[in-house]
Amino acid sequence: MEITPDNSEVMMKVFLPFKALDALENAEYLDGVAAVLQTALRKVIRTGNVKDVLHGVPTGHPLHPMAVQLPIGAWTSAVVLDFVPGAGKASRVLIAIGVLSAAPAVLSGWADWLELHPQQQRVGVVHSAANATGTLLFGTSLVLRCCGRIRAGTIASTLGLATIAVGGTLGGQLAYRQAAGANHAEAVPHLVAPGWHRVGEVGEFTTGKLQRRMVGNVPVIVWRSANENIAVISNECSHLSGPLSEGTVTDVNGDPCVECPWHHSRFSLATGQVMGGPATSPQAAFKTRVVNGMVEVSLPHAG
Ligand code: FES
Repeated sequence: MEITPDNSEVMMKVFLPFKALDALENAEYLDGVAAVLQTALRKVIRTGNVKDVLHGVPTGHPLHPMAVQLPIGAWTSAVVLDFVPGAGKASRVLIAIGVLSAAPAVLSGWADWLELHPQQQRVGVVHSAANATGTLLFGTSLVLRCCGRIRAGTIASTLGLATIAVGGTLGGQLAYRQAAGANHAEAVPHLVAPGWHRVGEVGEFTTGKLQRRMVGNVPVIVWRSANENIAVISNECSHLSGPLSEGTVTDVNGDPCVECPWHHSRFSLATGQVMGGPATSPQAAFKTRVVNGMVEVSLPHAG
């Protein structure tokens, strides 16, 4: 069949059945559920150190993708072992391990979900519902197996794994299509040319005030401290691209930080490091110098 502009859309529909997942992003009927969940979860998962751990701030890596490995691995292995004669006990143990290890995956997922855009939250609600159903099916399977109802237990776990696979597909939609959990500052070193770049005269920068400037096509924020140090980091928040230039400067353990106006991640103005979640990836931090009254910046590893 020849592909022409007229029939290429039909071809895409044939070859991209998963495109239907995109519609979930705009399913506004899910907003009511999301609002109820937000209210309930914010009472349980409060801003602070525990929430930062659930995001993965201390490790500098999102916790949720790591936390899901154990339950998914255990459950997949259990279903495979159902085809191995005499491995019934091993299957039961693996299903139990999966159920018991689901809590960190659930909590870290909800912590991340709380700080997403509405379109991402809609997909997240269905992702979570699928995984909750899958977990319930594995729990049911375990009970059935312990009661000697092996065949029913096997059916329940097989259905559970299929449901978890649907949840995983939606998780992929969130991560890859909607960039939830991705590092939104990743492109900066690729967009900034190596070497030194002027961002303005020293006198332009008011002490203590965040000011937005451009380095080539990359927006940055310039902050001049009371002791005349000048710090420059990339402007678009690594969490979900919020404009840090519209944030506020706050002190975290003696380190001046900018707090993102969208979900309140905090970044050290001196180093770009995350000082408070939900972000887990640092901002690009530029070296600075003053030459003949002009502030110049250079990004290590640029280009
Ligand atoms: S965009 Fe979410 S904390 Fe900055």
